[in-house]
Amino acid sequence: MSELIQIGASRPKAPKPSELELKFSETAVAQLESLKTHYPNEKACILPGLWIAQREYGGYLSPAAIAEVAFRLHRSYAEVEGVATFYSMYNTAHEVGRHMIEVCTCLSCHMCGAYRIADRLKEKLGIGFGETTEDGVFTLHEVECLNACDRAPLLQVGDEYIGPVKEEDIDGLLESLRSRSDSSVVKLADEIVRVHLKSEEKS
Ligand code: FES
Repeated sequence: MSELIQIGASRPKAPKPSELELKFSETAVAQLESLKTHYPNEKACILPGLWIAQREYGGYLSPAAIAEVAFRLHRSYAEVEGVATFYSMYNTAHEVGRHMIEVCTCLSCHMCGAYRIADRLKEKLGIGFGETTEDGVFTLHEVECLNACDRAPLLQVGDEYIGPVKEEDIDGLLESLRSRSDSSVVKLADEIVRVHLKSEEKS
């Protein structure tokens, strides 16, 4: 059973205050400070703060990442962890690969062969949903409707939608992702931070 669907799986412990190590880059600190000025209070900045942390910590919101957001926004660890674990786009369950392949298995994609695509991915990668390959390159997830049903069956990798995808496209897709040195998970987090900053500029 994948870690993601274990009922009642215990969360990793929060670091003690004496163990807190701040890892945000200067840019990240400046972005967070800029975002803070556009919200009525620091609590309202938890979501964008978590996106910054997801980028700064390599795509995974470890207890240390959550603690840093809590520290910088003067919130409790429990409050920030509660927000982070509520939303599925924050990666809190385990470290993720450089590329997260999200397979939509909702109705339209299901009707168009999503599970055949998923089976091919599982076979090629040797992992199931919610798992990461040993080399740390790929994580596979099953997701609900991505709101682009006209492109079914659809995959999401980072900030890109790929579809309609065919079984015979899978080998080429994996090869091209493997050859990329950047992390599409980190890139997605960065894009979302930029959107937050832009939307704040407009308001
Ligand atoms: S059902 Fe897959 S995108 Fe809507």
